[in-house]
Amino acid sequence: MLIRVIYTSTAVVPQTTAVTESILRTAQAANAQNGITGVLCQGQGVYLQALEGERRLVTGLYQRIFADRRHTSVELIHCESIAKRRYGNWSMAHVAMSDLDPATKIEWPEFDPYSASGLLVMGRIDQLLAAGTAIKLPD
Ligand SMILES: Cc1cc2nc3c(=O)[nH]c(=O)nc-3n(C[C@H](O)[C@H](O)[C@H](O)COP(=O)(O)O)c2cc1C
Repeated sequence: MLIRVIYTSTAVVPQTTAVTESILRTAQAANAQNGITGVLCQGQGVYLQALEGERRLVTGLYQRIFADRRHTSVELIHCESIAKRRYGNWSMAHVAMSDLDPATKIEWPEFDPYSASGLLVMGRIDQLLAAGTAIKLPD
């Protein structure tokens, strides 16, 4: 059974390229092995991540991510059973929100992942993915 989970969190350490790369390298390798797909959006001290895959594996990964000390205030925004993946092409796409903020702020002036509904946040992730340049790390 497939599920999709979306959470938001607050960075504890600055979101430097080195931190991002280390998260993404682990994520893309482990996710590919476990059939997990998703998107990691980050910027302005906030993470927003969608994870999809087998329920047992997504639950286990969420627990590991929850305990990761590089971020805090991990809050589950959305969880649903799915028939089909939305981010099936990505072992973990990465979108930097800060690059897009000036434009998207006009469209989403009040966006705050901690108070937005799951569907709104999923819409925002899709929008970020469509508008941004999702980064794939070199092999
Ligand atoms: C914001 C954020 C997103 C993460 N996303 C993933 C991910 O998609 N897949 C993954 O395997 N690890 C991800 N991690 C890393 C995990 O928290 C954890 O370090 C990793 O799964 C290794 O766990 P282990 O040391 O218990 O084996 C993420 C960490 C952070 C801070």
